[in-house]
Amino acid sequence: MIEPGNDDATGSTAHGGTPAIPEEPIANPGLPAHTWRPTDLDEGAAKRAERQVAGFFFLSMVCTVLFIVAYFTLQIGDNFDTFIGLGASTVALGLALGGAMLFIGVGIIQWARKLMGDHEISELRHSASSSVEDREATLAALDIGIEESGIGRRPLVRNSLLGAVGMVGLPLVVILRDLGPTNNQVANAEAGTGLQHTIWKKGMRLVRDVVGTPIMASELEIGDLVNAAPEALFPTEENGYPEIEGVKLNVQKAKGAIIIVKMEPDEIKHGKGRENWTVDGVICYSKICTHVGCPISLYERTTHHVLCPCHQSTFDLADSAKVIFGPAHRPLPQLPLAVDDEGYLIAQADFDEPVGASYWEREKQ
Ligand code: FES
Repeated sequence: MIEPGNDDATGSTAHGGTPAIPEEPIANPGLPAHTWRPTDLDEGAAKRAERQVAGFFFLSMVCTVLFIVAYFTLQIGDNFDTFIGLGASTVALGLALGGAMLFIGVGIIQWARKLMGDHEISELRHSASSSVEDREATLAALDIGIEESGIGRRPLVRNSLLGAVGMVGLPLVVILRDLGPTNNQVANAEAGTGLQHTIWKKGMRLVRDVVGTPIMASELEIGDLVNAAPEALFPTEENGYPEIEGVKLNVQKAKGAIIIVKMEPDEIKHGKGRENWTVDGVICYSKICTHVGCPISLYERTTHHVLCPCHQSTFDLADSAKVIFGPAHRPLPQLPLAVDDEGYLIAQADFDEPVGASYWEREKQ
């Protein structure tokens, strides 16, 4: 019990009339006078509060026990209509666990309100600024450092340092060029990595993605959609190693990805100049969405629509893959098809336009 009148119970702080600080422009009113609670003055009230707090903690324990009992006695799936459509197990577990935590919280609040010391305290803070002596010492040390570095006496060192520091940021500016138009587009295209061309070329077989097996035009059925890739991406050398590896393989795989679909030949509306780009109802498009380049293959065979999962652009594969919905602005590029002597699907040529999302040079072409 705290003795009323002994306000300085903390022993280190002031309350109930902290003296005003003379230097303050506005006098510090100090903390309000302390109000004693019944539990501070009456030992009986304190005991009652103690039992009340313990009661809340005891209720929490009861709830925890109820939770465990409910967990083992009520089966999930039983009595689904017990309470607003929720199962008995769900309701019992939720209420019991919620009650256990709630009563702990209420008990702690009551403990703090009625039994813990409630003296308000204040702590005076020193000024955040350094003392005049410290500031002068710092400036003196700085002057000594500048003097000892010789930066004032050696203009060659100073100026060359300024030049070096000034120029070190230039690479960051220079590499921004990679975000803009590339003037080595032609060289990249010749190397097979330019944005305007893919690895597809005349006579290259279409092969199934992942397994790399060639595709007979006659084995496809109406409604089929096959994810496919250029034959050149798969092992073609005698030693079993692919001709293309590493980054170049990934780039060409991404650009050369295609989807092949088969529909009734008379359902296809051939684009101008594309009358011979299909083989008996088999038609082929880039798999890369012309919006921002997601791979597409969500196909609805009855409508011939293919949906991009990223932003729902929808293309009509029976009508030159025109955009019928969504943010894409261009149709999917079409790969001209033919069959070789063995009946396997081959490309007549590369795509006649860049695949994938738009970029600056493309819009200028
Ligand atoms: S990437 Fe296909 S709709 Fe956006």
